[in-house]
Amino acid sequence: MNRIILLIFAAAAMAAAQQSGSTPEGDAAKGKVLFTKIGCYECHGYAGQGGRAGARIVPMVFRAQDLIRYVRRPAGEMPAYTEKSATEEELRDIYAYLKSFPPPKTVKEIPLLNQIKERQ
Ligand code: HEC
Repeated sequence: MNRIILLIFAAAAMAAAQQSGSTPEGDAAKGKVLFTKIGCYECHGYAGQGGRAGARIVPMVFRAQDLIRYVRRPAGEMPAYTEKSATEEELRDIYAYLKSFPPPKTVKEIPLLNQIKERQ
C-alpha cells in the first residue's frame, strides 16, 4: 500500500518537474547561466561551439553521467572541476543546457544544398 502511494508521489513530482522545464536531467535555463558563471564559456564559447582553448561540445553526445565524470577528471588541458566549484546538480543543469541545442541538420534538410544537387 505504502509503495503505491510513494509511486504516485514520484510520478506527480516528475510531471511537475517536466512542466517547469526542469527534468531529472537538469534545468537548461539555470545551466545557461552556470555555463557562463563557472567559466565553461571561456574555452568552449557561449553556445558550446568551441573556440581557441576548448573543444566543440555541442551537439552534446555524452550521457549526463559521462559529462559529469569528464568534468571531474578531464583528459587533457581542461581544468578539473571539483564538487566545490560545480555541484552535481549544477553540472546536470549545464548538461541540460548543452542538450537544448538542436542537432545539426542533415543535407536533405538544407534546401540550398538540395538545389545544387538537383542541377548537377
Ligand atoms: C580553461 C579552458 C576550459 C574550461 C574553463 C572548460 N573546458 Fe572543457 N575542455 C577544454 C579543452 C582544452 C578540452 C579538450 C580536451 C582536453 O584537453 O581536456 C575540453 C573538453 C571538454 C569536454 C569533452 C569534449 C569531447 O568531445 O571529448 C567536455 C564535455 C567539456 N570540456 C565540458 C566542459 C564544461 C561543462 C566546462 C565547465 C564546467 C568546461 N568544459 C570548462 C577546455 C576547457
